[in-house]
Amino acid sequence: MTTDSVSFNAVNQSTGQLPGTFITLEGVDGSGKSTQAAALSVALKNAGFSVLLSREPGGTPVAEQIRDILLDREIESMAWSTEVLLYLASRAEHVSTLLRPALERGEVVVCDRFLDSTLAYQAFGREGGGVRVIEAMDAIRRANDLATGGLGPELTFLLDLDPSEGLNRAVIAGRSPDRLEGEGTVFLDRVRDGFLALAEAEPDRIHVIPAGGTVTDISEEIARRALSYLQRK
Ligand SMILES: Nc1ncnc2c1ncn2[C@@H]1O[C@H](COP(=O)(O)OP(=O)(O)OP(=O)(O)O)[C@@H](O)[C@H]1O
Ligand SMILES: [Mg+2]
Repeated sequence: MTTDSVSFNAVNQSTGQLPGTFITLEGVDGSGKSTQAAALSVALKNAGFSVLLSREPGGTPVAEQIRDILLDREIESMAWSTEVLLYLASRAEHVSTLLRPALERGEVVVCDRFLDSTLAYQAFGREGGGVRVIEAMDAIRRANDLATGGLGPELTFLLDLDPSEGLNRAVIAGRSPDRLEGEGTVFLDRVRDGFLALAEAEPDRIHVIPAGGTVTDISEEIARRALSYLQRK
C-alpha cells in the first residue's frame, strides 16, 4: 500500500471548528437509540436541515465488516484490547470517510452510538479488562483520539432504561441477542451506571432522557432539545 492511499484523521480538529453539528444517541441495548435516531433525523430534515444518519459500529463497508466480527455470537471471547481496537478501527474509518466530510459540508450528523458507548461498555461494563476503570477510560480516550483526530459530539441524548426492559423489548420484537447483549444484565447494569456517570461528568453535552415512555413522547422531547440547541448555535 502506498502512503497516499492511506488517510488519517488530522489531530486537533474538534466539531466546534467544523461548520456542521454532531449529535449522538446513547444508551443500553434496546433503549430506543435506533428508533430515536431515525425520528430525530426526520424531525431535523422537516425543519430544513441537511442530515446524515449513521450508526456505530459500522456506517461504511469496512466498518460494517468490523461490526460483524464484534457482534458475532460464534466468537466466545476476545482480548479486551482487541475488542477496544476493533471498535476504534471501525470508528476511524467511519469518521474519516463519512462523518468528518459531512460535518465539513455543514450537515447535521445524527449517530447511533459513539465514544460514550465504548467507555460505558468497554471500561465500565468490562471493568477495563482487568485494569481499573479510570485507567481503561484513559487508554480508550487516548486511542480514540488517534481514531477520530479529536472529533466528538457536541450534543448527546442518553436514553436511560433498565437493561432488563431493553432486553424485553428485543424479546417482544423476536430478535435474538447479539454477542454483547448475551453478556446479561449484570454487565448491562454496569454499562447503564457508566453512561450515567459520564452524563454526570458532562451535563452540558449529555442530556439524560428517561426512555421508558412512548416513542412519540421521547422523540418530541429529543427534537425539541436538538432544535433549541441548533437555534442557539
Ligand atoms: N419507547 C419505546 N417503548 C416501547 N418499545 C420501544 C420504544 N422504543 C423502541 N422500542 C422498541 O424496542 C426495540 C428496541 O428499540 P431500538 O432498536 O430502537 O433500540 P436500540 O437502543 O437501538 O437497541 P440496540 O442497542 O439493540 O441497537 C424495538 O423493537 C423498538 O421498536
Ligand atoms: Mg440499535
